Amino acid sequence: MDIKVFRTCEEASAYAADLVEAVIRKRPDCVLGLATGSTPEGLYAELVRRHQTDSLDFSQVKSINLDEYIGLTGDHNQSYRYFMDSHLMNHVNIDRANTFVPNGTAVDLEAECRAYDQKWLDLGGTDIQVLGIGPNGHIGFNEPGEILHADTHIEVLTQETIDANARFFASADEVPRRAITMGMRDIMSAQQLIVLAFGAGKAEAIARFNDDQVTPDCPVTFIKLHPNATLIVDEAAAALLK
Ligand code: PGA
Repeated sequence: MDIKVFRTCEEASAYAADLVEAVIRKRPDCVLGLATGSTPEGLYAELVRRHQTDSLDFSQVKSINLDEYIGLTGDHNQSYRYFMDSHLMNHVNIDRANTFVPNGTAVDLEAECRAYDQKWLDLGGTDIQVLGIGPNGHIGFNEPGEILHADTHIEVLTQETIDANARFFASADEVPRRAITMGMRDIMSAQQLIVLAFGAGKAEAIARFNDDQVTPDCPVTFIKLHPNATLIVDEAAAALLK
């Protein structure tokens, strides 16, 4: 497990962009596993900049996202489809038809979950998976608990996650209570994982990397099992790391 601590989240995001860029340059038709939330915004801004100024080419790149709120259409400004379009897809030369986010308004949500796992398989898996973490250690929307799920599934959000995400909505009441999320298998099967965490609110979750325990009460600890994972944190998130 490689742990990289940077003074600021800007420096950390630039390093994360280096890793993603290396994958795209090596394999122009790579599959990116992407995450949403405030954490990867700097990474996406940097990738857009490199597309515009360093001709980083997304024309053959494909992407598959971790999760989506149930009940929000793709044009809702808090949907993860909208987030991806506005932060990345609309600003690079990716073919939008090659970008995948679960459909949170599918009539048959179970069928959507099965189809999403099949989509991931059809793409041949992900070359590099970008992950943020929740203050409670969730990855994607795989919430802490007694068990984790391997498959793409419907997850009921914890109160902690609802509270953490309320800042994006008019009030906590408007945060959707459920989401579709990739399960642990698709996440852990990526060729390479990068986990980003910035700010003091993530310090406790990052402190779980002080030992070798892997437990579903902190899903990000499963990253310790991955042979090619890098934890990329700023000093505030690293504050409790030994
Ligand atoms: P954040 O969310 O980047 O907005 O902090 C991360 C997450 O919940 O996975």
